[in-house]
Amino acid sequence: MNSANIKIFSDPIELSENLTETFIKYIDKRSSVNIALAGGSTPKIFYSTLSQPKYQHKIDWSKIYLYWGDERCVPPVHKESNYRMVKEALLDHINIPAENIHRIKGEVDSYREKNYYSRLLLTNLPQKNGMPVFDWIFLGLGDDGHTASLFPDSGNLKVDDQLCVVAEHPETGQQRISFTIPLLANADRISFLVTNKKKAQIIEKILRCRKVSRQYPASLLFDKRPDAEWWLDQDAATYL
Ligand code: 6PG
Repeated sequence: MNSANIKIFSDPIELSENLTETFIKYIDKRSSVNIALAGGSTPKIFYSTLSQPKYQHKIDWSKIYLYWGDERCVPPVHKESNYRMVKEALLDHINIPAENIHRIKGEVDSYREKNYYSRLLLTNLPQKNGMPVFDWIFLGLGDDGHTASLFPDSGNLKVDDQLCVVAEHPETGQQRISFTIPLLANADRISFLVTNKKKAQIIEKILRCRKVSRQYPASLLFDKRPDAEWWLDQDAATYL
């Protein structure tokens, strides 16, 4: 656990403000960045913080190209759409060129969109290890250890020859489109954003019991990228 890149904050707001300051400095040093966003409540707080006037005006949004690490197969106006969540928390408040925003189209055929989005990544992004490389990927963590829409016991966890897959939520059956482990692991920088006491147990398992936690999708990614960052609040870090 000691070697893991863990940052613990008193609460989600302090986490988000620190991450926002880090993001601002990161963007300032670069001419253009390809970012993949996550759904979820903790990422949402980060996006809302980013959109605050005191922060957003420090960022040249024209440098930033936004993608989604996963999306629910619903229309973009649906309450469960990750795109809609980011639009309401961030996009509606910042001056980012529309052409910089590359949402996954949850409203079309999932397999067709999975293939289309994979081709888009191959076209738009630079490559590393023969695969598109994101500058920075933000991820949440489910209390079952899922990340993006890669769920435990899914055959998608073994997919190593595709960039994106069609997934199915294990409880609701809702179709999702998700990056695969190889694509996620190829990013230059990976940050897990995890808050809330309900995540404390899974965080302990993934960060303390590396040997036994292999069945968790987030652990599979962490094994490939032990440099991944864990941005936690004290509640999520209760057992560390
Ligand atoms: C999604 C997300 C998913 C999310 C985790 C954590 O589409 O739901 O990409 O991976 O990040 O489920 O979500 P919470 O922070 O809301 O628990």
